[in-house]
Amino acid sequence: MPVRVGVVGCGWFGSAHARVYRTVSDAQLVAVMDVVEENARRLAEAYHVNYYTSIEEMIRKESLDAVSVAVTPQYLFQAARDALEAGASVLVEKPVVVSKEELRELEGLVRRASGLFMPGFIELFNPAVSTAKSLLEGGRIGTLLSIWSRRVGRLPKKSIGWRIGVSLDLAIHEMYVQHHMVGAPPSRISSYTANLLERGEGEDLAIFLARFPGNVVSTIETNWLTPSGIREALIMGDEGSLVLSYPDQVVRIESAERVEQPRIRRREPLQGELSYFVDHVRKGKDPEIGFDLAKEVLTSLFEGLERRLDLEG
Ligand SMILES: NC(=O)c1ccc[n+]([C@@H]2O[C@H](COP(=O)([O-])OP(=O)(O)OC[C@H]3O[C@@H](n4cnc5c(N)ncnc54)[C@H](O)[C@@H]3O)[C@@H](O)[C@H]2O)c1
Repeated sequence: MPVRVGVVGCGWFGSAHARVYRTVSDAQLVAVMDVVEENARRLAEAYHVNYYTSIEEMIRKESLDAVSVAVTPQYLFQAARDALEAGASVLVEKPVVVSKEELRELEGLVRRASGLFMPGFIELFNPAVSTAKSLLEGGRIGTLLSIWSRRVGRLPKKSIGWRIGVSLDLAIHEMYVQHHMVGAPPSRISSYTANLLERGEGEDLAIFLARFPGNVVSTIETNWLTPSGIREALIMGDEGSLVLSYPDQVVRIESAERVEQPRIRRREPLQGELSYFVDHVRKGKDPEIGFDLAKEVLTSLFEGLERRLDLEG
């Protein structure tokens, strides 16, 4: 029996979820939902599925096993809550929640829920990230010393209505990737944030500085100001470095003697992510990329935002 799935939020990324679910074996896309009926109808027509404007009604009427939640960030928690309470397993797009209060409430819901919970930490399914992690674990750059991550680009116009800053939009990706590389959350984290163009509600520039267990030092540089999109990480060890490009799915190993570029088989990260989710729902097995990881990552992010580096004066 295939896993019966639905998509909540039929904007740009919800449409990507719908498209990709159709390529996941063991999954059947059954219905989609959006508070804007026109958005739901358009996506439903593209894939010949039913559409709804209520999450609870969609889950109940269609007997859904699982849903992806890909709505406007400030409504992610609300939609995840409705889906969990209706008994479905839930994959919630980043940033999952927008405050510590929502995170605390979500924890209670997830612990009581009959369905599974997974955060949409998509870069963990980027083949370049898994390659870098294997090289690191295989000792290719010696002992890990530091990670420098950069994720910058222009503010997408539609995001002007998003009630979050660039930290929850972009820095979160680097937070969970760094956590994954080190295998633990930072022991200390601070940030500098600014709203330079004052177009959105939140900060449009954020720099995080962190220290992880083992004295690994990291930075995350992120903004909505840079004309061209850059998404990259430099992972340094005492015997070499890994240079990772997320969009190209490329990792270069650089040492004093040589530069190597291992062959990586490209894969759409969303395909890997949704296959992993569906597989865990089918088996009724809590995913390792689950609530506890989301909690650690988001707790670090909120802590970093609270502990501000003082560059004033
Ligand atoms: N993992 C990634 O790489 C990645 C990429 C893009 C977007 N995202 C995340 O996906 C989410 C959606 O982003 P997007 O670019 O598709 O935004 P979007 O603005 O294109 O679409 C959001 C959709 O959600 C709908 N919506 C809003 N509130 C709702 C609610 N309560 N219930 C149902 N539908 C509701 C809107 O009507 C709209 O159709 C965001 O949280 C974003 O951070 C993740």
